[in-house]
Amino acid sequence: MMTSRIIGTGSFVPTKTVSNFDLSELVDTNNDWIVERTGIVNRRIAQTDSTVSLAVKAALAAIENASIKPDEIDLIIVATFTPDNAMPNTACEVQKAIGAYHAFCFDLNAACSGFIYALQTAHVYLKSGMSQTALVIGAETISRIIDWKDRSTCILFGDGAGAVIVKQDSHGIIDILSGSDGSKGEFLTQPYAHLTTPFSNSDSSSILPYLKMDGQEIFKFAVRKVPETILTLTTRANITPTQIQHYLLHQANKRIIHAVAKRLQVKEECFSMNLEKYGNTSAASIPILLDELNRMGKLKEKEYLIFSGFGGGLTWGTILLQW
Ligand code: COA
Repeated sequence: MMTSRIIGTGSFVPTKTVSNFDLSELVDTNNDWIVERTGIVNRRIAQTDSTVSLAVKAALAAIENASIKPDEIDLIIVATFTPDNAMPNTACEVQKAIGAYHAFCFDLNAACSGFIYALQTAHVYLKSGMSQTALVIGAETISRIIDWKDRSTCILFGDGAGAVIVKQDSHGIIDILSGSDGSKGEFLTQPYAHLTTPFSNSDSSSILPYLKMDGQEIFKFAVRKVPETILTLTTRANITPTQIQHYLLHQANKRIIHAVAKRLQVKEECFSMNLEKYGNTSAASIPILLDELNRMGKLKEKEYLIFSGFGGGLTWGTILLQW
């Protein structure tokens, strides 16, 4: 049976490294607290890069890795909650920059689950035959919507982009389980800066466009939902969690990843991590991690992989695939 398969990966992070020590000069925090509670040591922060420029660099690396030409791409999806502009969308900007003239292009926002939702969407287009070659990108410049005076959030996030090329193949994506719970949206929010109109009766001038989070609620949600979806997918595929060679979870927090490993009774070594270097890069975290593993030669054909994302919305999504 035909499915879709990742045939190339790429990623790009800004060059500027900001350490926990650097942040302790901005807010009342310290390296030990951040490392112990999150596992994060450094993050990359955009100085001249934008969400589009990060996405373009990741895309070009994935195109080269897949040995395809940009004009073969007929679908571009960018997952982001930090686009540079509402119009034109990020995917159209990427199309222009890389010369993917035959693609149709849109952005998708599912916060930190964005890459999973985007890959799922591309998979459906490929399986239906409406597309032949998809470019799926997760790209964020979260540093622009962080309150750099809020120690409970500013230590967690970083900027970056990861990309994959996906094509039809006889093996690849096996199963997907995504979901949302809008009733718990208030746990992770970032409003737009509202412009006042001559006709508006409400005063929105006090609404600040910063990311706000109830860390403990998000923690509990992730630790419950991620193992639940993984177990459903492995059961449906008639395999056990220990048969998965590589777990690539959204890189939010080391403690979340360790708690998931424990619940699944799988060795922590099977859970790849790079959050110590980049922090939480939202929709970019899974494709950046995937690209690092791919380029290190760690992924062997037909091995089982799990991708699992969770975040604002609330949203979540897990993909079981064979490399
Ligand atoms: N440095 C030092 N102290 C800090 C701090 C910081 N950067 N941020 C918060 N604190 C303090 C708090 O003020 C609080 O102090 P108090 O007890 O005097 O009130 C104390 O540390 C504990 O805060 P709390 O929020 O209970 O910490 P926590 O153990 O829940 O850890 C997170 C906070 C954010 C690290 C944790 O909740 C978490 O990782 N949640 C998941 C978040 C996540 O992954 N989000 C992304 C999802 S996509």
